[in-house]
Amino acid sequence: MRVLVLPGDGIGPEVTAQARRVLERCAELFGLSLEFDTAVVGGAAIDRTGTALPSETLKLALDSDAVLLGAVGGPKWDDPQAKVRPEQALLGLRKELGLYANLRPVRPVPELLDASPLKPDVLQGVDLVVVRELTGGIYFGQPSERRVGANGREAVDTMAYNEHEIARLLHTAFGLARQRRRRLTSVDKANVLSSSRLWREVAHEVRREYPDVSYEDVLVDAMAMHLLRRPRDFDVIATENLFGDILTDEASMLAGSMGLLPSASLGEARNRLGYPRGLYEPIHGSAPDIAGQNKANPLAAILSAAMLMRHSLGHEAAACAVESAVARVLADGLRTPDIQQPGCRLVGCEEMGAAVVGALEALPRE
Ligand code: IPM
Ligand code: MG
Repeated sequence: MRVLVLPGDGIGPEVTAQARRVLERCAELFGLSLEFDTAVVGGAAIDRTGTALPSETLKLALDSDAVLLGAVGGPKWDDPQAKVRPEQALLGLRKELGLYANLRPVRPVPELLDASPLKPDVLQGVDLVVVRELTGGIYFGQPSERRVGANGREAVDTMAYNEHEIARLLHTAFGLARQRRRRLTSVDKANVLSSSRLWREVAHEVRREYPDVSYEDVLVDAMAMHLLRRPRDFDVIATENLFGDILTDEASMLAGSMGLLPSASLGEARNRLGYPRGLYEPIHGSAPDIAGQNKANPLAAILSAAMLMRHSLGHEAAACAVESAVARVLADGLRTPDIQQPGCRLVGCEEMGAAVVGALEALPRE
């Protein structure tokens, strides 16, 4: 099993180092055979090679069984006029690896309910996952361009979907709902957009194959509101690319800090073990302001590694062990600066990673 680590920019290298360390320890504890490769991506790759996703990196990704990514981007590469941008690496990897389903689970940690700007009683018991379409919609639709028209500068982006793209995403979401609380919410803007009307039509067709899963359609603007007012009511939320991008940042606030949220991006391609060859990354960005200072929270990256073992290795026990170890260190009161609380012990990225490894070793095993 080959894992490609793409540290990327900013805090990416620090948090992936801790996630890798947890994976290595899991390999020993659970008898997994893991080999690691590393490659450059994002701004680091632009500096080194002139492009955000060098062909060598893409080749290694295509040849790997799973990819663990840190974060890309930073002020150095932020010029809006620039032709090469770190984000192109992410979009390129998603497209080239065919990773059409992005899973973003949100389950607030009981000890951290106070870290969220929302009231604890709204957050109690929240356990949802957004399944975001990742290779279609306005991110990739054509035309997407700037031009000069009769009234001066103009620009266009296109939100396009075909029924195949919609159906496969919904099958992933329904399948996931079946392993959870069997509730699916499909989010669209069918009162305005043609692409959303097709989305809803196809969703209703796919739904017939999952009579055991309860289903509802919700408009995206209303969803933005419900997520804050009654987040507990949702189980699996399926939506298109841009709506999912926006709603998942909103949903991350339910968990208090972006530093806690992992994600998995999956497609049809299977790895050598017969599981999806996924890309796993924290949902936070590269946080250049704290990069290289041992202040970053590695838990989102570590939890992404847990998702990697669950989805790309089929090792539920190892994934659950890592999740329990993370819960343990938080219950023990360890905190990185982003989630600091009175009476808790402030630790750095490195210490947090070490503590998770320690908690893993201390877990009872069969
Ligand atoms: C995300 C990010 C990316 C996106 C950016 C960095 C291209 O916001 O993964 O949610 O828009 O998909
Ligand atoms: Mg985003």
